[in-house]
Amino acid sequence: MLQRLIFERIEQRVLVGTIAFLASMALVGWLAINEGGRMASFEVQYTARSIERGAALFAVNCSECHGPNGLGGAGVAPALNSPHLFGHDYLAVYDRELITLEQERNNPATTAERVTEIDARMQELQNERQNVINQINTVVEAKPGGYDPENPSRLDDLAWAGSLRAFVLTTLIHGRPVSANYWPRQMSAWSQTAGGPLRMDQLEDLTTYILNWDRGDNWTLDDLAAVNQFPIKPVDPSTVVASDVQVIVPGLTDANANPEQLDYAAIDAELANYTGDPQNGQTLYNGALGCAGCHLNAAVAPVTEGTWTRVQELRLQDPANAGLTGEQYLEHSILHPNEYLAPGAPTGGSYPGGVMTPNFASRLSYQDLADLVAYLKTQDQPLP
Ligand code: HEC
Ligand code: HEC
Repeated sequence: MLQRLIFERIEQRVLVGTIAFLASMALVGWLAINEGGRMASFEVQYTARSIERGAALFAVNCSECHGPNGLGGAGVAPALNSPHLFGHDYLAVYDRELITLEQERNNPATTAERVTEIDARMQELQNERQNVINQINTVVEAKPGGYDPENPSRLDDLAWAGSLRAFVLTTLIHGRPVSANYWPRQMSAWSQTAGGPLRMDQLEDLTTYILNWDRGDNWTLDDLAAVNQFPIKPVDPSTVVASDVQVIVPGLTDANANPEQLDYAAIDAELANYTGDPQNGQTLYNGALGCAGCHLNAAVAPVTEGTWTRVQELRLQDPANAGLTGEQYLEHSILHPNEYLAPGAPTGGSYPGGVMTPNFASRLSYQDLADLVAYLKTQDQPLP
C-alpha cells in the first residue's frame, strides 16, 4: 500500500530501480578501484606498527651497545643506522658517468673532437670524485672501525650474497659467536630457538625497524659524520699470532705437509723451561686463536670439556700413542693435527684430518703452548 502511494506510476518504479542499480554498481566499482589503495594503506599501517614495536625492543635490548639511534657505541658495537650497512656508494654517480664516457671514448666511431671533450669531462669527474673521497676521509678519519669510500658496502665486505633483510635477521637469530675475538662483548644470539630471549615475530619487528633507517639515495656526509663506530673487519683467526715473542717454528705454515720441521726432542727440551698459566691458556683458547670456535661443537671437533680425561683414559691407551705423556699428546695434537686423528666423531670413526689449523707452531711462543696445555689439563671432567 505504502509503495503504491510512493511509486504510483510504473515509469517511476522503473526509474527508481534503475537508479538503485546504477548506484550499487558505482559503489562496487568504487570499492574495487580503491581496493589497492586500501591494501597499501593497511600495509603501511602494519609496517608502521612493526617499526614501532621494533623501536621499543631496540631501546630495551640493543641500544646499550649499538647506541639509542643505532649510530654505534665507540669500542662496543658497530653502527647499524649507517650508509655502510645499507651499502650507499657516495662515488656511484661519478663512476656511472665515467664508465659511460669510457665506453664512448673506446668506440672507433667517436670523432677526435669528441674524444677531447670526453677527456676533459672525465678529468673533471675524476677531480670531483677525489674531492668527495677527501671529504669522506676527513669525516671518518678519527672514527674507530674504519670506512673506505671505495668499498662502501658492509655486505660486500662480508661476501654476503643475500638481501640486507636476511643478513640482519640471520645475525639476530644466530648472533656472532666469534665476534668476542675482536669486540669486548660478543653479539649474542637473540632467538629463542638459539637459546636467546626473543620470539621470531619480535626479531622480524627489530629487522623492520633497522631497515627503516635506509635513506636510499639521500644519505649525506652528515650521516657518515654521525656514526660513532664502524664495523671491525673480522680478522682471519688462522693468521693471529698469540704473542710477539719468538714462535716455536717460524714460518711453518702447514705442519701436516712438513712434519719433519717439528723436532719434538728439541721442542720438549725448551718447553721444560716454561710453567704454564691455565688462566692465560683459557684466554688464548677462547679468544684470538679461535680454538673454542671449533672445540665447542662436537660435530666439528672433540669438545673441550673432558679433554684431559679423554687423553688419560682413551688416547694414551691407543697403541698409536705409545710412549707419549699426556702433555706430549696435547702438544703434538696442537702442533701437528694430522699426526693422529682423534676418534669419536659423531658421524663414526675419527674426526677428519685437515680441519684443524695446521700452523700453530708458527703462531705460538713456548709460553703460549705451555699455557694452552695447562688450560687443557684443567678439563678433567668425567666422560659422558
Ligand atoms: C653486548 C653488546 C651488544 C648488544 C646488546 C647487541 N649487539 Fe648487535 N652487535 C654487537 C657487536 C659487537 C656486533 C659486531 C659483530 C661482528 O663484528 O661480527 C654486533 C653486530 C650486529 C649486527 C650486524 C652488523 C654488522 O655490520 O655486521 C646487527 C644487525 C646487530 N648487531 C643487531 C643487534 C640488535 C637488533 C640487537 C638487540 C636485539 C643487538 N644487536 C644487541 C654487540 C651487541
Ligand atoms: C678449524 C677447527 C679447529 C681449530 C681452530 C682448532 N682445532 Fe683442535 N681439533 C680440530 C679437529 C677437527 C680435531 C680432531 C682431528 C684431529 O685430531 O686432528 C682437533 C683435535 C684437537 C685435539 C685432540 C683432542 C682429542 O680429544 O684427542 C686437541 C688437544 C686440540 N685439537 C687442541 C686445539 C687447540 C689448543 C687449538 C687452538 C690453539 C685448536 N685445537 C684449534 C679442529 C680445530
